This record gives sequence, structure tokens and C-alpha cells, in this order.
Amino acid sequence: MDALLTSDLQLPKFRKGKVRDSYELGRDLLMIATDRLSAFDVVFNEGIPHKGEVLNKISIFWFSKTKNIIENHFLTDQMPPAHKLPGYLNGRSMIVKRTEPLMLECVVRGYITGSGWKEYQQKGTVCGIVLPKGLKNGSKLPKPIFTPSTKAEKGLHDENISENKAIEIVGKETYKTIKQKSLELYEFARDYVEKHGLILADTKFEFGKLSQNGKEQIILIDEALTPDSSRYWLKEKYDLGVLESMDKQFVRDYLEKLGWNKSPPPPPLPKEIIEKTSKRYLDAYEMITGENLDL
Ligand SMILES: Nc1ncnc2c1ncn2[C@@H]1O[C@H](COP(=O)(O)OP(=O)(O)OP(=O)(O)O)[C@@H](O)[C@H]1O
Ligand SMILES: [Mg+2]
Repeated sequence: MDALLTSDLQLPKFRKGKVRDSYELGRDLLMIATDRLSAFDVVFNEGIPHKGEVLNKISIFWFSKTKNIIENHFLTDQMPPAHKLPGYLNGRSMIVKRTEPLMLECVVRGYITGSGWKEYQQKGTVCGIVLPKGLKNGSKLPKPIFTPSTKAEKGLHDENISENKAIEIVGKETYKTIKQKSLELYEFARDYVEKHGLILADTKFEFGKLSQNGKEQIILIDEALTPDSSRYWLKEKYDLGVLESMDKQFVRDYLEKLGWNKSPPPPPLPKEIIEKTSKRYLDAYEMITGENLDL
């Protein structure tokens, strides 16, 4: 099994993210999901086979399901023949509308865990929002909460911010829109996957400003509801009190046990961890979409 770690196309580069490489394609963008893995904001030397394809196809699945909630940047996953793009892009890339990204990560949490759980144990709050007493790691919240964070520059971690600070960044009207849309998207996906045996604990959306025909519109961009941007747990296990993750939490747990200090360079990933992680991404794909990847 091979993993694609990097792309090198003869097109103007737009951006190399931790996981995705983007190129300019006329007015649009070509986004390629590589098999790179990032954990704690550090990119690993090994790739996870099939990960890019899983992420790309899960995003496309959700873009199509949520169009009626909010428009998104997806245009097509068919590569234009005129550009003679290499075959390895099939399945792992999409052409999207280029936008001006809003500088906020729109996090919605329906369950408490991760950094939210750490903060709650110390202060009884998550991102400053006071929560009821007696919650456990993994407890469902009375209702989903919107906890935006900054989009950190390369090498830095995203930082949770207050509602006022978020309003300062994007403006009041836009804030209201993206908060409401984020909550709606989360609730729709949460209810959908629950019927397929998954709990969507939390997720992160990004939005961008699209200027077209003299009009400005906020649309959903980036990836949507993937195992990289979300926490998915197996419902069957959750009901027994066990948080079994269908995302990269599995790698995070391995790294925590290893005692790595979470700064570069990353430690090498053993073959077994790579294979198990790959399997998890494939299983997540199957559970969410109800389809198998044609491997
Ligand atoms: N339609 C779009 N228009 C412009 N930029 C986009 C669009 N969709 C996604 N992006 C940006 O492309 C990048 C995607 O790459 P990737 O997710 O690998 O980056 P990243 O390392 O997570 O970076 P970041 O922390 O900025 O999200 C993100 O910076 C995202 O904001
Ligand atoms: Mg990203």
C-alpha cells in the first residue's frame, strides 16, 4: 500500500496546508487531499494509505447533503482533460470556488471531550461557557455549543476565543450567520450518522466570502465533517460507556502513551499504527456514506 505524501503539479501553487495541497485553476482552486497525517499540529513523515481519498469523498458526500442548509465551495471532482492532470489525483481531489476564508475556525461541540473536557475539569466551563455540574468525559451536552477559535499561523496552535473577540474578527452579522449555520450543519450531521451507528461528538467548519456579480455571499469551504475535522465515536461502544474513536484520536492516544512532547520532529509511526489508522478511516467512510471505497 502506497501513500501519497506530496504533489508536484505544473500549476500555480495556492497553498500547501498540513494535509492538502491547493493549486490555482483559473478562477477556481484545485484541492488535493494527500495521505499526510497531522496530529497536535505536527505533520508526520509517514502517510496513511487511502486517507486522502476518504477525506475527499466524505467531504463531497456532506457537501451534497447539506446544500440546502448553506451553499459550499464544491464544483466538481472530475478533472478537466485540458490540464492533463496525473491519474493519482482521481478520487482525492476536487475543484472548488476560490473564496476569501474567514479567519475563524467554527467549532461545534455536542459532547464534551478533548480540550473542552480539560477546561471543564479546571473551571466548569468550555471556552468560557458555563456547563452543568457532574459531566463526565464524553457526556452529551444539554445542547450543542459554538466555540470558535482563531486560525493559527503555521507552527502555532489554534486558540479558543470569546464570542466578543470572534465578533471583532468577522463582524456581528457574519458572526450570527456562521454560528447559526454551524449549529444547523452539526445537528443535521449528528442526527444522520446516529442512524448509521456513529456519534458525532464535535466538528469544525470553515467559511469563506465569495464575491460574484457584485454580490457577497458566505459559503462553506475547506473540508466538511471528515474524521480529520471531527470526532466520531462508535455508538455501540458509547452506549456501554466506552469512547471508541473512528478518527485520528487513535494516533493521538498512541502518541500520548509514547510520551512525545508534541513538538517537531515527530516520532516515527510503527507499521501497525499506520495500518490500523488506515483501516479506521476506511471504516469511517463506510459507516458515514454506506458505501465501500473501490480499492
Ligand atoms: N474555497 C476556498 N478558498 C480559499 N481557501 C480555502 C478554500 N477551502 C479551503 N481553503 C484553505 O485551504 C487550506 C486547506 O489546507 P489544509 O486543511 O491542509 O490546511 P491546514 O494546514 O489545516 O491549514 P489551516 O490551519 O489554515 O486550516 C486551509 O487553509 C483552508 O482555509
Ligand atoms: Mg485544515
